[in-house]
Amino acid sequence: MKSISLDITKATQFLKPGTIEAYEEKVKAVQEALENGTCPGNDFLGWLHLPSSITPAFLDEVQACANTLREKCEVVVVAGIGGSYLGARAVIEALGNSFAWLVNDKKNPAILFAGNNIGEDYLAELTDYLKDKKFGVINISKSGTTTETALTFRLLKKQCEAQRGKEEAKDVIVAITDAKKGAARTCADKEGYKSFVIPDNVGGRFSVLTPVGLLPIACAGFDIKALVQGAADMEKATGKDVALQENIAAQYAVVRHALYREMDKKIEIIVNFQPKLHFIGEWWKQLYGESEGKDHLGIFPAACDFTTDLHSMGQWIQEGERSIFETVISVEQPNKKMLFPKDEENLDGLNFLAGKRVDEVNKMAELGTRLAHVDGGVPNIRISLPELNEYYIGQLLYFFEIACGISGNLLGVNPFNQPGVEAYKKNMFALLNKPGYEAESKAIQERLANEK
Ligand code: PA5
Repeated sequence: MKSISLDITKATQFLKPGTIEAYEEKVKAVQEALENGTCPGNDFLGWLHLPSSITPAFLDEVQACANTLREKCEVVVVAGIGGSYLGARAVIEALGNSFAWLVNDKKNPAILFAGNNIGEDYLAELTDYLKDKKFGVINISKSGTTTETALTFRLLKKQCEAQRGKEEAKDVIVAITDAKKGAARTCADKEGYKSFVIPDNVGGRFSVLTPVGLLPIACAGFDIKALVQGAADMEKATGKDVALQENIAAQYAVVRHALYREMDKKIEIIVNFQPKLHFIGEWWKQLYGESEGKDHLGIFPAACDFTTDLHSMGQWIQEGERSIFETVISVEQPNKKMLFPKDEENLDGLNFLAGKRVDEVNKMAELGTRLAHVDGGVPNIRISLPELNEYYIGQLLYFFEIACGISGNLLGVNPFNQPGVEAYKKNMFALLNKPGYEAESKAIQERLANEK
């Protein structure tokens, strides 16, 4: 079986010779600290050996639940936000038909995502769309109390019960949450929903290979065994005993860290040349942003879709402030084949492309962009997937997770917490007069009055 690969040569050319090698001892120490559980955030290391510890019986249980939803639902709504949402969406969109939401293929339920915003129009339009549909809900929240998700779930639960009756609704509502704590757990136990547990030691953004990601992915009709196998193989290929020279995740972690520390490259732009990978970029942004952006440190993770964004952000990337580097996710072989046709009249002047695959044009755009951006002073990292399938996406997910664990530790932060996320919630609850927030409500009202 092939593997995803990494090319850092167009990034290391910006660094002094020997820079990467100089990190060898430090990386080894970080790898040992992760393995031995002696790094910051060591109570959240459950993801480290998750792929290799998932049993076939557990995957069968997830698949059986997915099969029930697939049988009974035309639409499955996945309610969740952040790490309780992005992984599933990233994989489903990367593997699915680009027009899946328009194509009713009867074989697979449409998978929709909600609970990741508080848009009234969004929720009203969703409710409206679901009115005549046989739909089910996967309610995902580790804490079981996240406002966006809880609010959406209340609406969906009521609608599902109204449309299918309370008894039938029980068969098509699934909870993925903590084993004991939180409102989502209380509700699931009281209503008798099928439920899965998010392990205590796996944080949201590292949870795509738990039922958080696996159940929606299986519902969409994708092979979760192959996905987990890909991740498990990457776990082996990037383990603590694999030296830096052989370990692509450690190399990625080191090169981005060196660009940040030694070249002042403060922004990493993850780019794809396949629109299907848009949400892989969104998932990656959360993984790295929430893991590294703390203590006033951390690379700002940004994402672009090329060639689309070459016509918007391309100018900035080519000639704007030189504080960026780029990481390209490239797919060697598309799954479909399409040749560009010859045209006798050649009115558009494109006959020089006749007979070529569309992907050949895309690949030349990719190479041309890399060369242009490197010439413009933008270090370039390239991650290459042989093709878009479950196995290689599984590899990619684990590659980014372990690289993030290493990178966060090189930076010296705790990559597994997210204390900064609480600030907006505290203000929002105070502004909404949530019980228990009386003092904060008073303080924020006074502050707003003074600011008038
Ligand atoms: O990575 C994280 O921990 C967060 O992004 C959470 O996934 C997100 O805030 C959602 O939390 P919860 O699953 O508790 O609803």
